[in-house]
Amino acid sequence: MAVREILKMGDPRLLRVAQAVTAFDTPELHALIADLKDTMAAAQGAGLAAPQMGVDLSVVVFGFGRSQRYPDAPAVPETVLINPVITPLPNEAGELQEEAGWEGCLSVPGLRGVVHRHARIRYTGFDPMGQPIDRIAEGFHARVVQHECDHLFGKLYPMRVRDFRLFGYTSVLFPGLGADSDD
Ligand code: NI
Repeated sequence: MAVREILKMGDPRLLRVAQAVTAFDTPELHALIADLKDTMAAAQGAGLAAPQMGVDLSVVVFGFGRSQRYPDAPAVPETVLINPVITPLPNEAGELQEEAGWEGCLSVPGLRGVVHRHARIRYTGFDPMGQPIDRIAEGFHARVVQHECDHLFGKLYPMRVRDFRLFGYTSVLFPGLGADSDD
């Protein structure tokens, strides 16, 4: 459909709590999802949330076979997730566990930071046809889902950075990624 502009940090539309989708399998919803996918692909992103295109709806897309921006990351299933709910899950010892890992964001170009996320989650929601999605995820998959769903609550990853010594320019932190991935 179309590659749209991605809003950057500082735009108040990134700080809204997104509205739930109430009608599935509509031309408008399919058009929005096509634009999200096209815009994410053009930016080589691991995920994109509707608020990043200025659309106040609870819709995210994510997933890749191989990510140029995160070359060490394992594949994440390509997914459209609507009205998501995330529940942290305990590890085998019965404890809720966090993992620290590097994140970037298409709305925060040129920077990366270390963010703590739940290591293991269950996420539920709906696909574009209104069919339920119910998955358990861990590692980078769980991180991507939590990052994208944060956008639906007006949260950008720098708001979750705890140690600002672990926050900086991608080109300095990861020079091997090259200029194309400096966002
Ligand atoms: Ni983001």
